[in-house]
Amino acid sequence: MKILGIETSCDETSTAIVENGTTVLSSTISSSIDWHKKYGGIVPEIATRHHVEVIAPILKESLAQSGLSLEEIDAIAVTQGPGLIGSLIIGIAFAKSLSLALKKPIIPVDHILAHIYSACMDNVGIKFPYLGLAASGGHSSIFIINDFDDFRLIGKTRDDALGESFDKVAKMLNLGFPGGPEIEKRAAKALNKKMLFNPPEIKNSYDLSYSGLKTAVLYYIKKQKQIEQQEIDSICFGFQEAAFQSLIKKLELAVLNFNTDSLAAGGGVTANSRLREMLKGLGIKLYLPALKYCSDNAAMVAGLAFRLYNKTGSGNIDFGPYSVFEEKWKP
Ligand code: KG4
Ligand code: ZN
Repeated sequence: MKILGIETSCDETSTAIVENGTTVLSSTISSSIDWHKKYGGIVPEIATRHHVEVIAPILKESLAQSGLSLEEIDAIAVTQGPGLIGSLIIGIAFAKSLSLALKKPIIPVDHILAHIYSACMDNVGIKFPYLGLAASGGHSSIFIINDFDDFRLIGKTRDDALGESFDKVAKMLNLGFPGGPEIEKRAAKALNKKMLFNPPEIKNSYDLSYSGLKTAVLYYIKKQKQIEQQEIDSICFGFQEAAFQSLIKKLELAVLNFNTDSLAAGGGVTANSRLREMLKGLGIKLYLPALKYCSDNAAMVAGLAFRLYNKTGSGNIDFGPYSVFEEKWKP
């Protein structure tokens, strides 16, 4: 079964065609990130306009890459949420139009669960139940995944998402946007590998919190009269270690308390090689996406859609988007 996936939840417009949930026949991504850079964060209106402009050409390119015509597609999958409402609406309206015009089923997909599925696309051997981690610019969530349509959110950030905290710390240090890749590079070359900041911890919970750590970094920077380049590297190292250690602690607890021997992790932050190394240290089977599928992409949407379709069939076309503030599932 060949599914066309459409992803427009944030700043990436992406379409992909995936066969049977695993074989990516084409994957096309156009990001508006360069237009957001000067504002130091995502500007929803810019993202939405970009989706409108590029979604049709992106689809044409995906079809050309795969050598397929629209008629040869069996179903349409689209990110329903969470994300920026204006951006999601573009993808959903486009997907619904295709579904109606082509008389093909439509499958709405959750963006966070799709990130976790991206770790399983090449790894069909993963066994339920497994731990799922989504670590991105908008989310830091830990799940128990019992099946593709049966999952439980056990912990999430109570304030900033992990990637968001990287972006905010990078902004304080004038390292540009998005901050994750630059902080990773700086941390790797730090000569002073000291734990400058305490890893944040919420007791008796799998929940996370990064706003206190971000503030600790801000006060540390304010205390310095002048910041040399080497000091920036040390701050990046100290921040990154504290942020990841706090996440690892919660995952260790989950491994201990839940009957699972596997973790599937996805989202932009899972591109970080230090995080990948620390996740390996958990000592359970680790499933990670290829680097090109860590950030937002439609292949993960089409992949998960196949699994959902196999289990429950096509949904009703009468659905709308949901934002980060109205996640449809709660712990
Ligand atoms: O998954 P994603 O592309 O978009 C969302 O769904 O949010 O994640 C983007 C986030 C940004 O906050 C970015 O700074 C972070 O992922 N990120 C990283 C790295 N690469 C991207 N964070 C840490 N280390 C990286 N190498
Ligand atoms: Zn994402």
